[in-house]
Amino acid sequence: ATHHVVVIAGSLRKESFTLKIANALTKLAPDTLKLDVVTLHDISFFNQDLESAPPADWVAFREKIQKSSGVLFVTPEYNRSIPGVLKNAIDVASRPYGKSSFLGKPVGIISNSPGPLGGVSAAKHLQNILPGISGPIMGQPEIYLNGVGDAFDDKGELIKESLLAVLKQYIDAYAAFVSRHHR
Ligand code: FNR
Repeated sequence: ATHHVVVIAGSLRKESFTLKIANALTKLAPDTLKLDVVTLHDISFFNQDLESAPPADWVAFREKIQKSSGVLFVTPEYNRSIPGVLKNAIDVASRPYGKSSFLGKPVGIISNSPGPLGGVSAAKHLQNILPGISGPIMGQPEIYLNGVGDAFDDKGELIKESLLAVLKQYIDAYAAFVSRHHR
């Protein structure tokens, strides 16, 4: 069977390494996994006052996640956490209370950084945020991609062999995880 997975890219930057990694994953994924990369430019600020009449962009984002068989987060690290835009999108999709769009969805987490630590603190924060509002989070393999600054050619294609190898391993494991846990 083919499973459709939403890949959430946590950076709005045009030349974002995060987005390039998300795009690279669409090519590395096995045939059983169709990846739909989404960016967060259009998600308006969460505001509890708007919950009774949610903006169209919230509704569209929630529905996209609800229809998926899994959610894969690709995030950079901002000040040892996840970017505010990503937290905002998670807050939007987590509501209404008890009806999180992530419920039951098998989750994967990929952090990255041009620096040496691979955004590990951002990934760890996601692991704190998600358990109450999502399905199972894949614990192994872990992946914190460091040194991503020289990983792409001028067309934005991922060309660094070491990163390609670990990403391939990860996406194959995640495909198996989705097959086991989707509902
Ligand atoms: C950063 N950056 C960064 N990197 C890191 O490894 N740990 C960190 O805590 C931070 N903190 C941080 C805060 C803010 C506000 C910015 C703008 C940047 C650097 C970051 O990894 C780098 O800008 C990446 O290129 C961001 O990801 P994208 O946009 O390339 O996907």
